[in-house]
Amino acid sequence: MAELLVESANLVKIYKSADLEVVALQGLDLHVPRGEMLALVGPSGAGKSTLLNILGGLDEPSAGRCSVAGIDLSRLSGRERIYYRRRIVGHVWQQTSRNLFSDLTLLDNVLAPMVLAGYPSSLRRKRARRLLELVGLGDRVGYRPDRLSGGEQQRGALAVALANEPQLLLADEPTGELDSVTAREVLLLLRQLNAELNLTTVIVTHDQMVASAMDRSVAIRDGRTSTEVVHAEEAEETVIIDGVGRLQIPRPLLEAVPFGGRARVHLAGDHIELWPAGLPERNGHTPPRQ
Ligand SMILES: Nc1ncnc2c1ncn2[C@@H]1O[C@H](COP(=O)(O)OP(=O)(O)OP(=O)(O)O)[C@@H](O)[C@H]1O
Ligand SMILES: [Mg+2]
Repeated sequence: MAELLVESANLVKIYKSADLEVVALQGLDLHVPRGEMLALVGPSGAGKSTLLNILGGLDEPSAGRCSVAGIDLSRLSGRERIYYRRRIVGHVWQQTSRNLFSDLTLLDNVLAPMVLAGYPSSLRRKRARRLLELVGLGDRVGYRPDRLSGGEQQRGALAVALANEPQLLLADEPTGELDSVTAREVLLLLRQLNAELNLTTVIVTHDQMVASAMDRSVAIRDGRTSTEVVHAEEAEETVIIDGVGRLQIPRPLLEAVPFGGRARVHLAGDHIELWPAGLPERNGHTPPRQ
């Protein structure tokens, strides 16, 4: 079995104010193996953001166990908490405006967590540019957030969240403010990051399309985990197509269809077909003549 990155058992969070106690989590259990993409779903007020804030080291559990990468989050000193937040987790908030500093360029936004985490300056710039390229914003490095679309801002937020090489990426409704096409783009990117970096990802979502794109979804109800759905592996794979139309075909698919270095591309209504350049016929379909 894969190593567990997140282990929480019987987790309790009580918010206390002068005359009120809110039990936000009441004995929640959650285990996340390293490399998994997990969706947290559940009604409003169920405790999803509370859990994410605890996993992100922003809030302390009131009782129970919670550890990430072997670090016990219930007994962090101030110093350890800072280390944890700067080096172990990346966080994307639902509100796009909370993720990026509005008066900094995209590049400076990505550099900031690296400065805090103490990366050597010689490395920072190179790494920031590489991350922005990875999220498809290589040509936007000098832009401030107000010149970016909602989807671009959330992709920028992902680059910021990844700047400190986190072991765990937390995202609270990362697609909540996006239209479905842009949401899909962000999801594809999350998948790509998961595949390339074996990045463990926990996202909160209300959107069934988003939840079913994850490996597993766990429903939270009244501060406890209730049901869990493991999504069957898709027979087809999702790949990223960059801004100039390049795509990388996964090796198993490439091995299944020997292209020999050249392909014919055919627009077929609402989708595109790729045919090995020399292949006359396959599965009853005839590739278009060129
Ligand atoms: N800082 C706080 N102080 C007091 N109560 C809080 C605080 N944060 C959350 N709560 C309460 O804890 C419960 C769980 O809230 P939480 O934000 O985790 O829900 P959620 O599942 O994220 O909901 P939503 O889907 O609406 O974002 C709610 O009853 C909420 O009012
Ligand atoms: Mg919430």
